[in-house]
Amino acid sequence: MSVSLSSSSAGELPPLPDPVAGVRDIVLVGSGKGGVGKSTISVNLAAALAAHGARVGIVDLDLSGPSVARLMGTSEAPELNDQGLAMPGKRHGVHVISIADMVPPEQAIAWKGPLVAQAVEQLIREVAWPDLDILVVDLPPGTGDVLLTVLEQIPVAGAVVVTTPERMATIDAERAISLFHEHDIPVFGTVTNMAEYICPCCGERQPLFDTGKAADVARRRHVADLGSVPADPTASGHAAEGQPIVVASPDGPVGQAVSELAVAVQAAIRRERQGTSRRAAQDQTIWELLQDE
Ligand SMILES: Nc1ncnc2c1ncn2[C@@H]1O[C@H](COP(=O)(O)OP(=O)(O)OP(=O)(O)O)[C@@H](O)[C@H]1O
Ligand SMILES: [Mg+2]
Repeated sequence: MSVSLSSSSAGELPPLPDPVAGVRDIVLVGSGKGGVGKSTISVNLAAALAAHGARVGIVDLDLSGPSVARLMGTSEAPELNDQGLAMPGKRHGVHVISIADMVPPEQAIAWKGPLVAQAVEQLIREVAWPDLDILVVDLPPGTGDVLLTVLEQIPVAGAVVVTTPERMATIDAERAISLFHEHDIPVFGTVTNMAEYICPCCGERQPLFDTGKAADVARRRHVADLGSVPADPTASGHAAEGQPIVVASPDGPVGQAVSELAVAVQAAIRRERQGTSRRAAQDQTIWELLQDE
């Protein structure tokens, strides 16, 4: 028996949301479970994509517990341009929008239902994004209003699902994959964060949790296993300094793993675009196709 708690009903796909001005592809980073490293992976993925030459933005949609600003080292509230659109700050080659830059750190941030949808739309659409290849979206934990608003109102290229190898996390990752699929959002694959600890002295690799389960989830749900990112004891220090690990230590184990993840995400986006254009081509007549040549 399958239980659908979301608002979409099978067989009836809603119309595609309007594109976001300036943004080519939107990539969600989600997990289901909290604390598995979504924000850490989001900022590092964004910085790695920028290091690979992509034009990248990041938006923090964890409205109650935003952490992208801290992880990227931004603190200034964005200025508004003539059209009243927020102008994102730029750090580590990435254009950044986070609610944390608009609210003092000591102030509580609580949202009531309809305001959530409004905030999500505004943080993504009411922004003067420069031309971006990829906008990375750091999602909050769980499957609440923020995620449902994104799934229904924002045109998404695909999602990366972060998990640790722990059973508790992989169960929620599997639920997140189901939710994305229910909304016809391509899942680019799973990333296993904090899969192992690499001894800085001897390089020996020690599993931190019950390993192997995350790859099982990917296999079972027919999505790609995008690899794993080791635990890095310097992560919290870099976070406090507003430096993604890929910037502070690009050749370290985390830097290399996230760099490979960035390549895999770019390849997934390309495949998705090709698939989409093939699907669009199937809807065209031979005469329209010849005209496009
Ligand atoms: N690869 C890693 N190595 C070491 N520490 C890590 C790693 N990834 C994440 N962490 C640490 O784990 C904690 C949780 O990470 P993070 O905030 O990125 O998770 P999250 O999934 O975004 O959490 P939330 O659900 O609260 O948004 C942080 O203290 C972070 O520094
Ligand atoms: Mg987070």
